[in-house]
Amino acid sequence: MSLTPIGESRQKVTAAVLRLKKLGHEPITCITAYDYATARLVDEAGIDVVLVGDSLAQTMLGYENTLSVTMDEMLHHARAVRRGVKQALLIVDMPYGSYHVDAQDAVRNATRFVKEAGAEGVKIEGGEKRAELIRCIIDAEIPVAGHIGLTPQSVNRMGGYKVQGRSLADVEQLMRDAVALDRAGVAAIYLEGIPREVAALISAEVSAPTIGIGAGPDCDGQVLVFHDILNLTFGPPAKFVRRYGDGAALITHAVEAFRADVRARRYPSDEESYHLAEETKQALETVLERKRALRR
Ligand code: KIV
Repeated sequence: MSLTPIGESRQKVTAAVLRLKKLGHEPITCITAYDYATARLVDEAGIDVVLVGDSLAQTMLGYENTLSVTMDEMLHHARAVRRGVKQALLIVDMPYGSYHVDAQDAVRNATRFVKEAGAEGVKIEGGEKRAELIRCIIDAEIPVAGHIGLTPQSVNRMGGYKVQGRSLADVEQLMRDAVALDRAGVAAIYLEGIPREVAALISAEVSAPTIGIGAGPDCDGQVLVFHDILNLTFGPPAKFVRRYGDGAALITHAVEAFRADVRARRYPSDEESYHLAEETKQALETVLERKRALRR
């Protein structure tokens, strides 16, 4: 039986629902959203998890990578998304620097996402070495999602955005990372940019649901970036991206058509204008006529 009936009776998605989906082999769906309008559309389309990813640094703010996005910027977007999401589980990315100082600082920052933006969970990049810190955040009653493999906040250490887990040693480290996150009690593990075979092994090993991006079809769920599926990223897509629409073409066409209509005085038409009531129009005409008569 499906846990996500279509229509009004759709249930609120929680971390427990994600686990049930894994147990029931029902694929979990996740898409990023960064503002009210897209969050509403994504939520109303029946997606299970809305992720306010720190990818907003690039997609929304035009930064080169995710490293410079701040807590305040993430909070600003998370609050807007909160207002648009009703049924989906809302997870917010902890930005680079917000959990790297010490556990106290990390708990304080995670708490801000819950108190100030209504987040139902936070996501943290890193495996084994973040397990203790993740326990502290979970102790503060905040569900945490882990994120391993190609972790964009490690771009400088990785020397670019490269598929991870290709050597035997790397595969073993990824397995240790996943198991450490699972034991720490994460609500989900995001697997990014790793070979399909490794993602399949991890997904079979851990009890937490895995949500893949560039990690093949054997994860418990899949996530894609909103701007990627709609061709709004101004560049060639990564191998794993499937485009479901051409938002760039749609927007460009609409904006060009508006510009052409204004320049040709085709917009606005009389039907697109407001009008005075007939009696007000007549009263105004009388006033104007009196003024004209005085000037003569
Ligand atoms: O920031 C983000 O959008 C993410 C997803 C790609 C998993 O972390």
